Amino acid sequence: MTVDEEKYAAAAFAAGLVEDGMRVGLGTGSTVAPLIPALAARGLSLRCVATSDATAHAAVAAGLVVESFDQLPELDIAIDGADQIAPGPWLIKGGGRAHTREKLVAAAAGRFVVIASHEKVVPRLSAPVPLELLAFGLTSTLRRLRYAVPREGPQSPDGGIIADWTGEFDDPQALALLLEADPGVVGHGLFPPSYVTDVVVATGQHIEHTQHDRDAR
Ligand code: A5P
Repeated sequence: MTVDEEKYAAAAFAAGLVEDGMRVGLGTGSTVAPLIPALAARGLSLRCVATSDATAHAAVAAGLVVESFDQLPELDIAIDGADQIAPGPWLIKGGGRAHTREKLVAAAAGRFVVIASHEKVVPRLSAPVPLELLAFGLTSTLRRLRYAVPREGPQSPDGGIIADWTGEFDDPQALALLLEADPGVVGHGLFPPSYVTDVVVATGQHIEHTQHDRDAR
C-alpha cells in the first residue's frame, strides 16, 4: 500500500466516525483531501467549518455545507492531519501553513480526530515546528526567537508570517511555553495531548485507532 493509499484509508475510517446532524471541523492537507469526498459520500446532514480556503472549496464542490466559524463556534468533531505524531499524543502541525486556524477549530471541537499514514508516527517530536508570527515587528521577533526562520511563500490567510522553529528541543511543553510567552508569536504548530481525543493511523492495510481521554490530562 502506498502512503497516499494509507492516507485515504485513515480518512475513510474517520469519515465513519461522523454521525448525522454533526457540526464538523475540516482540517487542511493531503490527508484531509480524501476525507472530504468520503464524508460527502455518506449523505449525512452535516454543517462544516473549514480551516483553509482550499478545504472550503473542496468541501463545497463535494456537496458539503460549509459555514463560517462564527456561525458554528462549537463543533461536535474536527478531523485533521499531522506532520508528526509522538507519544502523548503530542503533534506537530502546520506543514500546510494552517496551524493557527487548525488549533482554533480543534479547540472548539468536542472530539479532535487526527488521521495519518504510518510515517507520521515518530518516537519524539523534532524541528521544524511551524510558527505564525505577527508581521508588525517581525525583525525584532526573529531576533528574540533565534531559531525561527521565515518560510518561503505566502502569508497565512490571516496575514501572519509563516516561519519554522529550527532549534533542537527535548521537551515540547517547554518549547510551547517559550513560544507562547513571546508577544510576536501568533501561533505555533505544537499541539499538546489536551487537544487530541482520537488518533487514526494507517499502516498498510491495518488501521490503528486509539482514543484518549482529554479530562484525564
Ligand atoms: C496543515 O497546515 C497541516 O497542519 C496539515 O494537517 C499537516 O501538515 C499534515 O499535512 P498532510 O496531510 O498533507 O501530510
